[in-house]
Amino acid sequence: MKTEQREYELEAAIKTEKVPRHVAVIMDGNGRWAVEKGLPRHEGHRQGVETVRSVVRHCSEFGIKVLTLFAFSTENWKRPVREVNYLMSLPVEYFKTELDELMSNNVQVRMIGDKKKLPRRVQKAVDDGFEATRNNTGMILNFALNYGSRQEIIMAVDGLLSDAKEGRIKGKINEKTFSRYMYTAELPDPDLLIRTSGEIRISNFLLWQLAYSELWFTDVYWPDFSKLHLLEALYEYQNRKRRFGKV
Ligand code: IPE
Ligand code: IPE
Ligand code: MG
Repeated sequence: MKTEQREYELEAAIKTEKVPRHVAVIMDGNGRWAVEKGLPRHEGHRQGVETVRSVVRHCSEFGIKVLTLFAFSTENWKRPVREVNYLMSLPVEYFKTELDELMSNNVQVRMIGDKKKLPRRVQKAVDDGFEATRNNTGMILNFALNYGSRQEIIMAVDGLLSDAKEGRIKGKINEKTFSRYMYTAELPDPDLLIRTSGEIRISNFLLWQLAYSELWFTDVYWPDFSKLHLLEALYEYQNRKRRFGKV
């Protein structure tokens, strides 16, 4: 079947009232995409940014409220310096070229992760992106940058302990109190997690928040992830039965 026809069918079958509120994505496979084409790994990252542009546009059109994109993990510092440097140049580049479109699509930019350890220019790009889009009321585009879920949990525990010491916590700690100390404090948990490139693992991403998310994996490398794949994930999500422990 032709791609356009399949896209058309899926789009018609997707119920707008049942789109996931929060979609989280582990954008994986950039390096392999490039190497298999005889290109250097950074070409895969460059092409991956094009996929980010298209996925942001489509998710915003479909009425998704929050899109979290895993862009750089706390473990990714272990890569060769040149690759790390290239990856760090991408947020700066992205906000420079994309701000107009984000504004016209009413998208609000945020980030989760340990910002202080990012290079100054990346911190500034993220802060500027946040400032410029803070009054936008459409989709929240949430970048996970220098993000690691275990680091986040430790940070939350640390914050909780110091507030407790200062007497700022009344009563017992419950799941809701704890969630307020996470980077994702104001966000709903992801309804759907997408991971590309055929790896079936979580890689230290949103361990607490993914407790009841629907997981969707594809062999497609991130640079090849298209509107059709997004529609397939959304369609499958809508046809799953979420039980939350009930029958
Ligand atoms: C995802 O692609 C991008 C980041 C993790 C920053 P990879 O760079 O992990 O690509 P593969 O997994 O090596 O193919
Ligand atoms: C996860 O991908 C991190 C991001 C997508 C930013 P990795 O490629 O780093 O994950 P592993 O190392 O294969 O688990
Ligand atoms: Mg990878």
